[in-house]
Amino acid sequence: MTDTASRPKLPLLVLGQGTDLHTERGVECPGDLPPASDPELVERARAAKAALGDRVFVLGHHYQRDEVIEFADTTGDSFKLAKEAAARPDAPWIVFCGVHFMAESADILTSDDQTVILPDLAAGCSMADMAAIDQVEDCWDDLVEAGIADRVVPVTYMNSSAAIKAFTGRHGGTICTSSNARTALTWALDKAGDGGKVLFLPDQHLGRNTYARDLGGPLEDCVVWDPHKPMGGLTPEQLDAATMILWRGHCSVHGRFSVEAVEAARRDIPGVKVIVHPECRHEVVELADEVGSTEKIIKTIAAAPAGTKWVVGTELNLVRRLGQQFPEQQISFLEKNVCYCSTMNRIDLPHLVWALESLVEGRVVNPIRVDPDVAHHARIALDQMLALPGETHKD
Ligand code: 13P
Ligand code: SF4
Repeated sequence: MTDTASRPKLPLLVLGQGTDLHTERGVECPGDLPPASDPELVERARAAKAALGDRVFVLGHHYQRDEVIEFADTTGDSFKLAKEAAARPDAPWIVFCGVHFMAESADILTSDDQTVILPDLAAGCSMADMAAIDQVEDCWDDLVEAGIADRVVPVTYMNSSAAIKAFTGRHGGTICTSSNARTALTWALDKAGDGGKVLFLPDQHLGRNTYARDLGGPLEDCVVWDPHKPMGGLTPEQLDAATMILWRGHCSVHGRFSVEAVEAARRDIPGVKVIVHPECRHEVVELADEVGSTEKIIKTIAAAPAGTKWVVGTELNLVRRLGQQFPEQQISFLEKNVCYCSTMNRIDLPHLVWALESLVEGRVVNPIRVDPDVAHHARIALDQMLALPGETHKD
């Protein structure tokens, strides 16, 4: 046990230690209380899954709740889950415990006789919603009018609707995830050629971080396209000079991690290492020791020597689980006021049980079916991602 009196008073939430009740405020709830997951519901989930056997494959994104992750056949970041879905041609039903854009991608990558199910259709993504297809088509028309569209290659983050992925496929671009953005951007800049540009959708932070941090490009090369302003709020000169045209979108969870929180962590926890997701703002990413996808965050912490102190800037379900899985590390959440991803959390055990029991009864609830024409063009962009040079699965 750590001597709590000798520990600094942290503004941070230390997770999974059970040793410092001041800083772990509200984490433990000691006493004779029932478990969070209704045991009867857990039993029903087990029974339904057993009855379905190999006919169902359950995918769980790292941000899902513990009680949902327990029933996942595999867990992963969005890239790994897209590949896992494509690698299960024998399972007629894929239950996707994640958000809508991930389920759409799984539908596009699986065969026509497989059905992807999203247990709660309200599990969307606020970032994906920040780029509507009409806005993106208008942007492209403006780029044509400005005489630069033929020098622009779109790179679209996985966190986007199937319609935006199809737009990307139609215009010779690629999809990327947080684990392969560097490779995707290198490919696109190369394809755009001298004086060429990338239109990066919809996460301005991932685009900026990948260009400036990973590829060492100057920040001045980046401009932000505001879909609510004529011509994106940019002058023809600004557009002409830019290499990266970043869509004005962001993650409502990761966008809230702050420079002050990183500074407070460094001040209060001697020797701490800060690891954040690349959806965080550039100033935050610049101050971090490590940056990476959810899969990379897990692997980095798993590989670190016991006793390493980590402050983690990503979704709280994952950070809490890391705290429990690696009690030999000291793991804290970067910003005490940042909430769970509310849309990821829409998938709960009742919805999962409902989806599984319905399948047992022969009923498919909440199927995700992408329009065939949209799926065709989105697949071109997704296949381009899967074919990126040297790309299998990087973190
Ligand atoms: P990963 O690709 O790292 O899993 O991230 C997906 C996501 O939605 C992050 O907010
Ligand atoms: Fe979307 Fe952010 Fe939630 Fe990821 S964490 S699903 S980007 S809102």
